[in-house]
Amino acid sequence: MFESYQRAAFVEGVRLASNENPLGTSPKALAAVRRIEDLSRYVDDSYLDLRERIARRHGLSRENVVLGHGSNEIVKLVVQTFLRPGEEAVMAVPSFALFRLAVLERGGVSVEVPLREGVSDLEAMLAALTPRARVVFLCDPNNPTGTAVERADFLSFVKRLPPEVVLVVDQAYREYAAPKCVDAIGEVPERPNTIVLRTMSKIYGLAALRFGYAFADVQTVATLEHVRLPFNVAATALAGAAAALDDEAFLQRSVACNEAGKRLLYPAFTALGLSAYPTQANFYALAVPVGATRAYEDLLADGIVVRNGDSLRMPGRLRVTIGAEDENRALLAALGRLLPRWRA
Ligand SMILES: Cc1ncc(COP(=O)(O)O)c(C=O)c1O
Repeated sequence: MFESYQRAAFVEGVRLASNENPLGTSPKALAAVRRIEDLSRYVDDSYLDLRERIARRHGLSRENVVLGHGSNEIVKLVVQTFLRPGEEAVMAVPSFALFRLAVLERGGVSVEVPLREGVSDLEAMLAALTPRARVVFLCDPNNPTGTAVERADFLSFVKRLPPEVVLVVDQAYREYAAPKCVDAIGEVPERPNTIVLRTMSKIYGLAALRFGYAFADVQTVATLEHVRLPFNVAATALAGAAAALDDEAFLQRSVACNEAGKRLLYPAFTALGLSAYPTQANFYALAVPVGATRAYEDLLADGIVVRNGDSLRMPGRLRVTIGAEDENRALLAALGRLLPRWRA
């Protein structure tokens, strides 16, 4: 689905292309998966226990929670459920590519609103709403720029959004963001038709397990539950996700690793004469002085795998995951070697 550009993310080398956790997987989650001895029975498809546990952490009830085979699945589920062919979905560009792909696959129309100085332009997104608009996607922090909207701007945006429009706030990277950033889960009971997506693929290091979840008002969750496939979350994912939720130590180590990476990389980029948006996530959108495709290919030849901004509708930039210290230093060394050629 993500076409050829994603294939390079799997080649050998320093893998800074997919915003994965450089510390690996929550050890508690791995241990829980290894303890599984029998997979012959279907799981309880209501998923009530895990929904309850996830909900309670946020002061909500299990009727506010939907589980998914990764949050990707929930993006598609939301589009399938709420968007009819010909209706419009408003989203920023560049933003998470799946929003647009899911809308087009459904026969919907993607209304794409350019970022403003690298940040989702909420005013322009409101202005882009027509009577045919049914869904609005907001990725915050935004992939691929790492930027986040101001809380006051978000609250004002939510207040002015027509109530019948479904607002999807994808917060795949929220755990990395500063506390002052938007935590959209707090908005769920306030505004019906608001769906907040979270994933365990990133900070919990469970990308290959496939587990994501969403919060929404009770009616919206009931509708989504009607449409989702039975048994969409595997027993392995249930066990790993439940254990990871308790692994506060791993979460904190992961945040600390990311913060250390930011402290190393951002000043080093500046010293190399490169600019990046300040990030609230675990990656940077790094501006390069040659075309993004050339920069991406040169880094790949040097053993550093990043994401080519040309394939993310972010020309002139690379998306670079913040890695472990040795990976970050390898990236900086490669940039130091390549920059004289790029500037020649
Ligand atoms: C903004 C955003 N949402 C969702 C996802 C997908 O997460 P999952 O692995 O839970 O499907 C990603 C993964 O890259 C992402 O960047």
